[in-house]
Amino acid sequence: MENNRPNWSSRAAFIIAAVGSAVGLGNIWRFPYIMGQYGGAVFLLVYLILILTICFIPLMAELATGKTLKKDCVSAYESVNKKFKFFGVLNPLTGILIASFYFIVGGWIINYIYVSALNLKIENYSEYFGLFTQSSVPACIYTLVFLFICVFFAGRGVKKGIEFANNVLMPMFAVLLIGLISFSLNLPNAHLGLEYMFKPDFSKISSEMFLAALGQALFTLSIGMGALLTYGSYIKDDKNITKSAYTIIFSDTLFALMAGIMIFPAIFSFGLEPNSGAGLVFVTLPYIFSQIPHGNIVSFAFFLLLLAAAITSGISIIEVPIASMVERLKISRTKACTILFCVISIIAIPATLSFGVLSDVTVLKKSIFDFLDFITANLLMPLNAFILCIIAGWFLKIKGNMFLQNKIAAFLFDIGLKYIVPIILFSLMYIGLK
Ligand code: PFF
Repeated sequence: MENNRPNWSSRAAFIIAAVGSAVGLGNIWRFPYIMGQYGGAVFLLVYLILILTICFIPLMAELATGKTLKKDCVSAYESVNKKFKFFGVLNPLTGILIASFYFIVGGWIINYIYVSALNLKIENYSEYFGLFTQSSVPACIYTLVFLFICVFFAGRGVKKGIEFANNVLMPMFAVLLIGLISFSLNLPNAHLGLEYMFKPDFSKISSEMFLAALGQALFTLSIGMGALLTYGSYIKDDKNITKSAYTIIFSDTLFALMAGIMIFPAIFSFGLEPNSGAGLVFVTLPYIFSQIPHGNIVSFAFFLLLLAAAITSGISIIEVPIASMVERLKISRTKACTILFCVISIIAIPATLSFGVLSDVTVLKKSIFDFLDFITANLLMPLNAFILCIIAGWFLKIKGNMFLQNKIAAFLFDIGLKYIVPIILFSLMYIGLK
């Protein structure tokens, strides 16, 4: 089977795909609104420190485990110890659960592209967003369309599908982002948004903020569900993964900062508040677009950018279960994609309806959508990352000196992988579930 495994066509292709996985809704939708909720610049500072120190370790460990074992998550864990198979299975399961809420937001984006393309006039965006998310059939159709797009690309395979989608969508994303940043920075009082982002107010530091920053860092780097392990398993032997890891972290952080520079100046320019939560991108920004000349074109470009980012991440989320199904069940990619489409639909449709007809159905006092978000971000992703650090550090014995030239850096990596990061992840889970 191993010889039949797909490979990236080049190192650049791998990096573009891994950056495509990392840069997604987490950067453009989640990052600005969480930063808005936790006080702006001071959150950014904590987030940057965490990403550059702690998060480098599990990211590197995922890539190195994938590259070393060259297997899907389930087979990789099983090859270390038969008893670890169950831990491996948790990764594709987490992927299916993440997809089931991530793809709903993907559906919202497609709807906003449609609204902008037709230049539909909307009086009250807050009301519109509520009505749209509560609409049963249209909202479900949009979720399924987004799911179909991701499954379609993933179904075409690593080179023809995943690489192709990333090679087209990531440059498009970058160009649109730069265009929208220059638009935003030219709005009156844009500097207020930049001050909000870059002038820390240390009185806003809290332990809750640390947790939110760490959770955001794991999510945005795609750590904790095997996506990087799976992408890493397609790397050919001669690749330098330390450099790749730095490139992924640097690019993801840069894109998150750029998303902030695109969004906050516009918000402050219109005298609005940046702490409106998940509606920031779907209520506040569309309102701003509606107030400017040719705003529908800017809105179209913005949601297209968001869609491009969401698709490249969405593909990586479903690649984890696809790889496991293909390698474990020995079925074709097309068959695996068809099964996955059905399985994700079965969870995603009730989750979509949880904004409307199923709003009374709760799991642990949360709507189905909120439950999926909660259980993956607060339990499954940190748990998977914890297990990965233990397996990579203690059983696979991945060591810093395998890839870090500097002895001190290699030593710190070993300590981090075996002790510090697992303890931090365990605390994150513990506090997150309380
Ligand atoms: N990193 C993606 C984002 O920021 O939107 C989300 C994600 C992708 C999470 C892949 C997990 C994953 F495995």
